[in-house]
Amino acid sequence: MQAGDEFVSANNLYGGSFTQFNDILPQFGITPRFVDPVDPNNFAAAINDKTKALFCETVRNPGLEISDLEAIAKIAHDHGLPLIVDSTFSTPALQRPIEQGADIVVHSLTKWMGGHGTGIGGIVVDSGTFDWKSKKVPLMNDPDSSYHGIRWAHDLGDLAPLAYIMRMRVIPLRNLGACISPDNAWMFLQGIETLPLRMERHCENSRAVATHLQSHSAVEWVRYPGLEGDSNYEKAQKYLGGKGGSMVIFGIKGGAAAGSRFIEALQMFSHLANVGDAKSLAIHPATTTHSQMTEEQQAASGIPPEMVYRRRSRSGPADGAVVTSGWNLPCLTRLVIRRAGDVSPLIPTHVIVQAVRLRRVIAGRLPVLRWKVNRSRFSVRIAIPRFRR
Ligand SMILES: Cc1ncc(COP(=O)(O)O)c(C=O)c1O
Repeated sequence: MQAGDEFVSANNLYGGSFTQFNDILPQFGITPRFVDPVDPNNFAAAINDKTKALFCETVRNPGLEISDLEAIAKIAHDHGLPLIVDSTFSTPALQRPIEQGADIVVHSLTKWMGGHGTGIGGIVVDSGTFDWKSKKVPLMNDPDSSYHGIRWAHDLGDLAPLAYIMRMRVIPLRNLGACISPDNAWMFLQGIETLPLRMERHCENSRAVATHLQSHSAVEWVRYPGLEGDSNYEKAQKYLGGKGGSMVIFGIKGGAAAGSRFIEALQMFSHLANVGDAKSLAIHPATTTHSQMTEEQQAASGIPPEMVYRRRSRSGPADGAVVTSGWNLPCLTRLVIRRAGDVSPLIPTHVIVQAVRLRRVIAGRLPVLRWKVNRSRFSVRIAIPRFRR
């Protein structure tokens, strides 16, 4: 896209994506039109002459609504537009968005794809089926002065299906530097090799966590698309092969104070933001991953204010949290590293390395439930779950 262009996007995005669309792209003259994606017709209503693409997440972060990709893709194609989807939350192991109508799929590799929280990167996958020969897209149809006047949608001969991804490699990647570092790329390749197995385990663990929370007296509500009765259960059957994914969201009775006690008391779950790796974590999205959004933007995006702000009422509003179950939850040792008295740790690398070494030594040898090592200001806790396989 270029200055003057518009695109229509779901309004319920990961906070960083929302900021990029709402605050950064307009600085370059590109305007997003945000719509509630729950009714796909909202996309159609927001399309105008300047619209260049539709965008949504397959499974929304953090609300876990599943997009009706087939319906949104139909609207896009009826208007001669490509559908771009962020499939980070479902991964190729659970969902195949291109077969469901998407033209371009993007993933954060930082999460489930890498699987260990060790690298930062993303990937763009082109279906190769969208016909870019359209006056609506000058970048693909006008001569490109940076590449010998090539018209990407017209001049590639047999390689025509590669027009978009070839331009992506030659222009943004080569000229603008949108390239993963070799070290990170190597780590992602290691992770992707085990993705299907890990996703199986993620889904199994998350279902167990959701089922447990459902019957817990301190829990007000639970949302997990894999649970029968969940508002997105049908869509999970259709789009995620019946799996519910790796995230569970729930509300705790007793408001923000109860939420804060919950986070502080966690033993096996860490309080951190990187979803989709080996660790199980819990987080309060509205005050962390989506904290840069205004209250109104959070509400429009499905993050109610009581998830952020304490509201005192007799009934005690629920305080929301997201839990993601790491793929190793039931079978391996779990490590929690904390700076003493602080739940948002900034731990020096040498302490982490030390702790990881410690974990390797201890894993599988000591039949203890919890173990503590105090290292000056830092403590390392190692918990071995009761249920070992
Ligand atoms: C759906 C979604 N897309 C994109 C991103 C951004 O990923 P990265 O951290 O690799 O920039 C995230 C991060 O949480 C996400 O949840």
